Amino acid sequence: MNEAIKTNNISKTYPGVLANSNVSITINESSIHAVVGENGAGKSTLMKILYGMIKPDSGNIEIFDNSVSISSPKEAINLGIGMVHQHFMLAKNLTVLENIILGIDRASLKNLGLNKYKKQIQDVMKTYSLDIDLNMFVDELSVGEKQRVEIIKVLFRGAKILILDEPTAVLVPQEVKELFKNLEDLKNNGVTIIFISHKLDEVLEIADEISVMRSGKLIDTVTNKNVSKTDLAEMMIGKSLPTPPPRTTKTKQNIVLDVKDITSKTIDGREVFNNISFNVFESEILGIAGVEGNGQKEVVEAIIGIDDIESGEIHFGGNNIKNQSTRERLESGISFIPEDRQLQAMIMDMNLTNNVIIGRQNIEKYKSNFATVKTKNAVKESEKIISLFDVKTPNTSTLATALSGGNQQKFVVGRELEDDPGLLIASQPTRGIDIGAQALIWDKLRESRDEGLAVLLISADLEELIGLSDRIIVFYQGKLVKELKSDNVSPEDLGGYMTGLKK
Ligand SMILES: Nc1ncnc2c1ncn2[C@@H]1O[C@H](COP(=O)(O)OP(=O)(O)OP(=O)(O)O)[C@@H](O)[C@H]1O
Ligand SMILES: [Mg+2]
Repeated sequence: MNEAIKTNNISKTYPGVLANSNVSITINESSIHAVVGENGAGKSTLMKILYGMIKPDSGNIEIFDNSVSISSPKEAINLGIGMVHQHFMLAKNLTVLENIILGIDRASLKNLGLNKYKKQIQDVMKTYSLDIDLNMFVDELSVGEKQRVEIIKVLFRGAKILILDEPTAVLVPQEVKELFKNLEDLKNNGVTIIFISHKLDEVLEIADEISVMRSGKLIDTVTNKNVSKTDLAEMMIGKSLPTPPPRTTKTKQNIVLDVKDITSKTIDGREVFNNISFNVFESEILGIAGVEGNGQKEVVEAIIGIDDIESGEIHFGGNNIKNQSTRERLESGISFIPEDRQLQAMIMDMNLTNNVIIGRQNIEKYKSNFATVKTKNAVKESEKIISLFDVKTPNTSTLATALSGGNQQKFVVGRELEDDPGLLIASQPTRGIDIGAQALIWDKLRESRDEGLAVLLISADLEELIGLSDRIIVFYQGKLVKELKSDNVSPEDLGGYMTGLKK
């Protein structure tokens, strides 16, 4: 078998962190190679080195048996390496076609003409069985489709090696299926794929070989046939996985959140959601299931006060909060873990201490008389979050951007839970989090629930939704179509209600 990539003793340190330590990895041509490991294990660092985004301190790289130095993404692309980022880099108000050719210099565009390029792109799409309407605007595409555009874009630039860093974290199950079919087709056409995921079931479904990293080191590369999920988990964390305790529902009768008949329309009169009513009780986790785009996100934004409602009422702790600002709602005891931590939950170039304070400058703990905040309290608070939620970072003055993706997420979840809210709205709380840390967050959510917290949980991970929730409500086409007790529902059943196939 030919080797597409070989790294020899790659090392990279950051202040206080050995992110990659003598990593020697071999990736075969025309294969799907998964890289797994705990949050902060060094996966993204290795990928950024391969894509020329950062320089290793030592070690070297061979691409198709040639020793190379990759000092920029441009060089990586010239060497046939493409990367699809988790945060898509597409321009929303351009068409798919315009996005794909974006970056091609004007001279060649003029020489060859737009139609020639269009034909070339169509050839790429045909070769690799990737389908998309080139004339659509990017804003009209689903998340899965945007990702497909990114893949077509890198293939069009000649990529033979494709790096996908947690591509499935943002996808719903149906989209994951489609992506995997696309990846199989790419592999069969000679493309080499490096795939990072925390979902070991997915890894075992798609990968030919699996490399496990821990604390910056490559532990081993194994063939898929020879390993189980338990084997992988043990290699990743160095011990066996904790098993979740059995569910003990102790929901109380007090209503914490009372959503009454709320309706919302867009400016042009389209229905976003219609006549939605539900309650969340004290000591209850209420799960919301729905395929993206069925109104659940907008309902959450209405509860938080980011979006207005046309009619209906929202009561929290007995008070009508419909006319309160988002800030007032948060200060009155609603905590919010948003789906996009980098956009809505953290300020990336601020340190962790300041990320504890943002939005909370007015609460007693942090407020002071001199228009300055009580930083000491915030330092203490961030230290507490770091220790309780096992956030891997040198200290509290580390910038948010220097944390690995999963550790950013753990910090946000910790901050919101430690705020002692009455209601927690948690949107994809364990996205991008490794299985060990996921179990930790599940435990914390259950603990808080048992102590009285009301939780509204939105998750695309159906196992998580069923496992954590006491009840589940299903959204379909802007309506609440079903309410279920989660004791006796399977992911397949739930998927059926979510897609309207089951009533
Ligand atoms: N720009 C940076 N500055 C300082 N430290 C960094 C920087 N980028 C990464 N690190 C550190 O390097 C280590 C490895 O991070 P990396 O992002 O490679 O982890 P990962 O395996 O991708 O984790 P995750 O699963 O959470 O995405 C972490 O401890 C992280 O805090
Ligand atoms: Mg990462």
